[in-house]
Amino acid sequence: MSAPKKLFIKTYGCQMNVYDSERMGEALTSEGYVTTDSADDADMILLNTCHIREKAAEKVYSELGRFRPLKEANPDLKIGVAGCVAQAEGAEIIKRQPMVDLVVGPQSYHRLPELEAKVRKGEKALDTDFPEEDKFGQLPKRPKAARGPNAFLTVQEGCDKFCAFCVVPYTRGAEVSRPADRVLNEAQDLVERGVREITLLGQNVNAYHGHDGGLAGLIHALAEIDGLERIRFTTSHPNDMDDALIAAHGEVAKLMPYLHLPVQSGSDRILKAMNRKHTAEEYLRLLERIRAARPDILMSGDFIVGFPGETDADFEDTMTLVAEVGYGQAFSFKYSARPGTPAAEREEVAEDVKNARLQQLQSLLVQQQRAAQEAMVGRNVRVLFEKPGRMPGQMVGKSEYLHAVHVTADGIDAGDLSDVRIVESSSNSLAGELLSSG
Ligand code: SAH
Ligand code: SF4
Ligand code: F3S
Repeated sequence: MSAPKKLFIKTYGCQMNVYDSERMGEALTSEGYVTTDSADDADMILLNTCHIREKAAEKVYSELGRFRPLKEANPDLKIGVAGCVAQAEGAEIIKRQPMVDLVVGPQSYHRLPELEAKVRKGEKALDTDFPEEDKFGQLPKRPKAARGPNAFLTVQEGCDKFCAFCVVPYTRGAEVSRPADRVLNEAQDLVERGVREITLLGQNVNAYHGHDGGLAGLIHALAEIDGLERIRFTTSHPNDMDDALIAAHGEVAKLMPYLHLPVQSGSDRILKAMNRKHTAEEYLRLLERIRAARPDILMSGDFIVGFPGETDADFEDTMTLVAEVGYGQAFSFKYSARPGTPAAEREEVAEDVKNARLQQLQSLLVQQQRAAQEAMVGRNVRVLFEKPGRMPGQMVGKSEYLHAVHVTADGIDAGDLSDVRIVESSSNSLAGELLSSG
């Protein structure tokens, strides 16, 4: 048997890309590849890319530039671009960077073995179709190898919402849900390999409709799997938070009290211009209902500042909404015009105004995040341990609320789920003391 070829995958963007990268690695095992952590000795480099903001897309080209010496030293090295930049730019990528051998979109990577065979023959390979066949149905069975306690599991892909700023409906295509039996089988399989927490993924995960009762129905079914201790899901759109899903937060003990529910803006005028199809008030009322079902839930969100037409008053509305919600975690971005989206046609807010607003918003969000962490001090949480920390004897894991918690104690293993008392909050994590092991 010949020595295995080495595949280096670098992942950008959202968690769905993390999941896809795992599956791409698995798809290429049939061609004799094993994954490696270093580009230097790779036979193939795959960049799994993100197109969401201009900076994210440009990173790909600068990264490709860095691989040039490797390609010069080893002409047999193959370089591929996958993910959302591949979908958005297609053949343009090879034009701009001719050393790229392969371009594959997020809906066609199950065809990687054929594409790889093509590039091995010295040809270029390009596939950015949205094929009829279900890529997950075509991918090889997942390996049985043991894995860590956390896993992502994509259940839904694509988006039909067409927010005016967003490339996702174009790069990922129309909304599709995976059939529940396949999802449940994959979850069972992950649990048999050591997984104790599954995060269900979708660009619009709460639009999932592959199970009776939608995402809530799927969550109830997953909760029946012995050995699966924790369920999370991301990312949700406010308009798809149905009654059953809200209720699930109170009913399903395995569903963790953390919800990422982006609102983008607190101004009704801007929400309308963004095509978000709800008002700030509706979002706040929705949160009230969610908090009634699960009072301790930790809220997370995404915000865009400087959307075209955003005035000082609109921005103040965002600040007011944030103050009212009290986020435990949040992500905020300067608006970035994306080619092909409706908002890209509109006049932009000045860069210095965007910068000032971003700074102001981020300082409030950081303050809220710190306050949420401080509020954990003295409380008991359950931590799912993942890996050793930076200090000797330290293990790190996540609480129910997705806070990183580190504990120094003997005998903790990755995968342990233990009671921990929080004793201190530092900038990005909590320190705890072990109460019980398990
Ligand atoms: N499906 C998710 C979000 C996907 S993109 C949802 O609907 O919430 C992740 C985040 O990137 C978005 O929530 C938004 O805040 C941000 N984003 C998307 N397009 C952007 C753009 N053109 N400029 C700046 N931020 C953007
Ligand atoms: Fe993009 Fe909006 Fe769809 Fe989220 S809901 S992926 S922001 S179009
Ligand atoms: Fe980026 Fe595509 Fe995810 S654009 S955020 S990698 S869906």
